[in-house]
Amino acid sequence: MKIVCIGGGPAGLYFALLMKQLGAHHDVSVVERNKPYDTFGWGVVFSDATMDNMREWDRDTADTIEQSFAHWDDIELQFKGRTIRSGGHGFVGIGRKKLLNILQARCEALDVKLVFETEADSDADYPDADLVIASDGINSRIRTKYASVFKPDIVTRPNRFIWLGTKKVYEPFTFLFEKTEHGWFQAHIYQFDASTSTFIVECPEPVWLAHGLDKADPDQSVAFCEKLFAANLQGERLMTNARHLRGSAWINFQRVKCEQWSMFNGHSHVVLMGDAVHTAHFAIGSGTKLALEDAIELTRQFKEQGDSAENIPAVLARYQTLRAVDVIRLQNAAWNAMEWFEVCGERYCDQLEPEQFMYSMLTRSQRISHENLRLRDKAWLEGFERWFAERGGAATAAWGSSAAAGPPQGGAAPPGGGEDRGGAATAAWGSTSLPPMFTPYTVRGVTLKNRVVVSPMAQYSCSDGVPGDYHLVHLGARAMGGAGMVVAEMTCPSADARITPGCPGLWNAAQRDGWKRIVEVVHRETDAKIAIQLGHAGAKGSTNAPWQGAGADRPLAAGTWPLIAPSPQPYLADGGQVPRAMNRTDMDRVRDDFVRSARFAAEAGFDWLELHCAHGYLLSAFISPLTNRRSDEYGGTLAKRLRYPLEVFAAVRQAWPQDKPMSVRISAHDWVEGGITPTDAVQIARAFKAAGADMIDCSSGQVSAGQKPIYGRMYQTPFADRIRNEAGIATIAVGAISEADHVNSIISAGRADLCAIARPHLANPAWTLTEAAKIGFTGVAWPKQYETAKSQMHANFQRERGLPSGKA
Ligand SMILES: Cc1cc2nc3c(=O)[nH]c(=O)nc-3n(C[C@H](O)[C@H](O)[C@H](O)COP(=O)(O)OP(=O)(O)OC[C@H]3O[C@@H](n4cnc5c(N)ncnc54)[C@H](O)[C@@H]3O)c2cc1C
Ligand SMILES: Cc1cc2nc3c(=O)[nH]c(=O)nc-3n(C[C@H](O)[C@H](O)[C@H](O)COP(=O)(O)O)c2cc1C
Repeated sequence: MKIVCIGGGPAGLYFALLMKQLGAHHDVSVVERNKPYDTFGWGVVFSDATMDNMREWDRDTADTIEQSFAHWDDIELQFKGRTIRSGGHGFVGIGRKKLLNILQARCEALDVKLVFETEADSDADYPDADLVIASDGINSRIRTKYASVFKPDIVTRPNRFIWLGTKKVYEPFTFLFEKTEHGWFQAHIYQFDASTSTFIVECPEPVWLAHGLDKADPDQSVAFCEKLFAANLQGERLMTNARHLRGSAWINFQRVKCEQWSMFNGHSHVVLMGDAVHTAHFAIGSGTKLALEDAIELTRQFKEQGDSAENIPAVLARYQTLRAVDVIRLQNAAWNAMEWFEVCGERYCDQLEPEQFMYSMLTRSQRISHENLRLRDKAWLEGFERWFAERGGAATAAWGSSAAAGPPQGGAAPPGGGEDRGGAATAAWGSTSLPPMFTPYTVRGVTLKNRVVVSPMAQYSCSDGVPGDYHLVHLGARAMGGAGMVVAEMTCPSADARITPGCPGLWNAAQRDGWKRIVEVVHRETDAKIAIQLGHAGAKGSTNAPWQGAGADRPLAAGTWPLIAPSPQPYLADGGQVPRAMNRTDMDRVRDDFVRSARFAAEAGFDWLELHCAHGYLLSAFISPLTNRRSDEYGGTLAKRLRYPLEVFAAVRQAWPQDKPMSVRISAHDWVEGGITPTDAVQIARAFKAAGADMIDCSSGQVSAGQKPIYGRMYQTPFADRIRNEAGIATIAVGAISEADHVNSIISAGRADLCAIARPHLANPAWTLTEAAKIGFTGVAWPKQYETAKSQMHANFQRERGLPSGKA
């Protein structure tokens, strides 16, 4: 085959040499516009895993790279005058120049034709090539030429960064954060040879503009960065190799992905590779890895399917199918990491103490979990857990009890410096530390024994709104299962506020007494707390239970009742009942119904009250512009749409005992164009915080039947994170949180204060006890009657982990 690689970066050079190695008869050339030893850039990093992969495909190249790279394990954070370091991260750093020189030399040794200082105008310049590799980088001319075929999706991100170098040697991978009068800057620094480190400086565009850096030439930018990081650089200089650039050397990252990776131009097959087809933000340093692994996969396909011209179409199709999966996974992780650096200035830098900031930064891609950090650096993680157990509980207590207070601030205790909270529990966790999931949490006069909440789940199993034996067993079992708190399902303040005829209510004494019996059993037999969730169905009322008639959300066939809502709009366009728009008299009545329920809830002895302002029910419907079309003072702007829900909140808060907490569940994202967005959710949270809410329970969706949610592991946690750290109010994360590892990561990173778990609790009432056993934490108390099961379960999980099954 005749193969031409346009662009001699890592992708083009590595593919050229691998193909030549696969078959010496192939005619392979690389066309590069630069001179052989003339290349931009400082060092690049990739992981140990990439090195292993390369070793498998070309030992020579891997060995030479290995002789030249800097290998390091530690990540160091320098932040607010503190230095925190953790190990076990396994990176390889190498000068980009060095890497290319190694690849060029190997190409020469294998007889690849290297054509330097030649600008390839187009793939059409090589009509006799069987295969043209468009490895021409992020601004790929070939991709642009065939944009209608490749369908590139290019997103320009808001941060500005400049790629610098320094002769100061940084042993660990180092992150510096510096605050200026206009905002935060961060530097990502890694050594790549014996005497040089890459030094990337990054900041949000408004900060960059405020400092006038848009008008600075490269030398002025270097001077600015040297001054900014002077304390760290200690007289060392920063260097730029972008002097040839006119104007600012600060760039925006562009995320590239393409729908189609290859095509036939009439003469040759053309395929995109490396940055030309996908980019990954430097926050996880994977661009070079992706480029090299593209080259490996394409070569593998030729090896497996036959390296002759007739196989090219099949090879290219399989190459895209396989690579696209890995690439999207990595791009998603890179996206999360990139976003973290985009928002850290406004969301984390001022809010989090250095220990938690470090944790949040290390887990920024959401690919590294709590247990993963333990594998990397057990001592560091245990130090963090000790710090969290001591500091986390205390900090959130102060924060949670004062609606006006901001997130925890101020001086931090050194990791490992304090005594553990949780006494016996800590001792049992190998006398080392306490999993953050099992730290207590105090708000107002209520202390939860841990951070797990059984999320409210409608059971549609009441008669006349009175909870009975079913609810006693259902909630009682879950209260015995180890969660810190059980939240009873949405309970309605009037008969016409119900979703279905089977929904529980709290508008009369019989219902109050039904709840009282359950609350008393939970309090007497367990150490869990129990909450009530009060909600009015609005336009989503008068429907079937999921297993009845036409199913959930569908109107009852008989026995319907009239509905009220902010606007006369049915939830289901096809056959939903049209509600009547509420007038002020309705509003007074519903508000007073909520107050009556709150009083009954207090009499029943509930510990906590949650106001349901999510999922398209009445109060949620006031908040969303999709369901609130009013033109009076309760519709229009977000502030006006919030007016009625806030009025209800205030009235309930007044009726509810002051020493008991109130949370508000919101839909932080409607998942519909024109609906509530996470940015609105921060405003909503601020409004409820100002009204005296202790916590925001961050759910999403179910406001419009046209929603298009993006589900995934912990998919709503970013809302809890953003609200907590931007609005400065404690949050509950919920949604596809299914393991202790998730809970530990969320709580540790300060993404939420509590985690609500719903469906896993339907499958397993003792979810918390089971998860504790899975991670080998014996310090959690089981009901005394169940003790023998505890030791057995722990022993079984120990055995599964391949550890001696000692006694729990
Ligand atoms: C600030 C920054 C930091 C980075 N840090 C890392 C990191 O730590 N780790 C990491 O893995 N990656 C990192 N990257 C990304 C990495 O540089 C790229 O992902 C990687 O180089 C992609 O390789 P490539 O071969 O696809 O493209 P490139 O390396 O861009 O190579 C393309 C080549 O094509 C040549 N070319 C383009 N057009 C033509 C033409 N018409 N004719 C002839 N030649 C042409 C160019 O001169 C260039 O040599 C970083 C990138 C940036 C911007
Ligand atoms: C059967 C069932 C009933 C639910 N009922 C309620 C409810 O009454 N109130 C509420 O706010 N959320 C309700 N939800 C939503 C859950 O509380 C939770 O937010 C959602 O299931 C996502 O969490 P998960 O992934 O852990 O299941 C219900 C969910 C399920 C599965």
